[in-house]
Amino acid sequence: MELIFLTTNKNKVKEIKDLADAESKNVRIEHLEYDYPELQLEEIEAVAEESAKYVKEKIAIKKAFFIEDSGLFIRALNGFPGPFSAYVFNKIGNAGILKLMADKKGEERKATFKTVVAFCESVKTAPILFVGIAEGKIAEKERGERGFGYDPIFEFEEAGKTFAEMSRAEKSEVSHRGRAFRKLLNYIS
Ligand code: IMP
Repeated sequence: MELIFLTTNKNKVKEIKDLADAESKNVRIEHLEYDYPELQLEEIEAVAEESAKYVKEKIAIKKAFFIEDSGLFIRALNGFPGPFSAYVFNKIGNAGILKLMADKKGEERKATFKTVVAFCESVKTAPILFVGIAEGKIAEKERGERGFGYDPIFEFEEAGKTFAEMSRAEKSEVSHRGRAFRKLLNYIS
């Protein structure tokens, strides 16, 4: 089965393609570079669902497809930046987040990464959502050279490593995206 993944984020594509290759012999990911508007809604479930609906209306897609939306939710900041993660990353980056967190200690540094995959079997069917979360904390400083986005400041607690200190396979094993995408693969199989 071929699945089309619509995104402009090449890092997400690498993660998803590797995962599909590792987890399933029957699913092949085809990347479609398509830049849909980043909706600023309060829940990333709604962002993913509405984005999938938007895409269906705008372009003719002949195969099953999915999009995904991810967000970083920091406990001490009441879930900020959450659905605004892309905007905030572009404005203040990891250095800005670390500054906001400068006086936060212990439990206050806890954070959750969440991915919502919105899958449409065809343009005629409603999106089905698959959610994956990873629990961690905001590191004291950026660590690691791999990954992208918030990876250098998101420490996956069980491993004591930031996502940027993990290989792509290690990250996907436990990451929000890996968990959400594996749910999609299970659904398909
Ligand atoms: P979006 O899903 O593309 O809207 O991502 C929101 C923001 O979170 C962007 O700034 C991404 O770079 C960042 N982001 C998304 N997924 C990850 C991830 O797996 N690791 C680190 N940052 C991520």
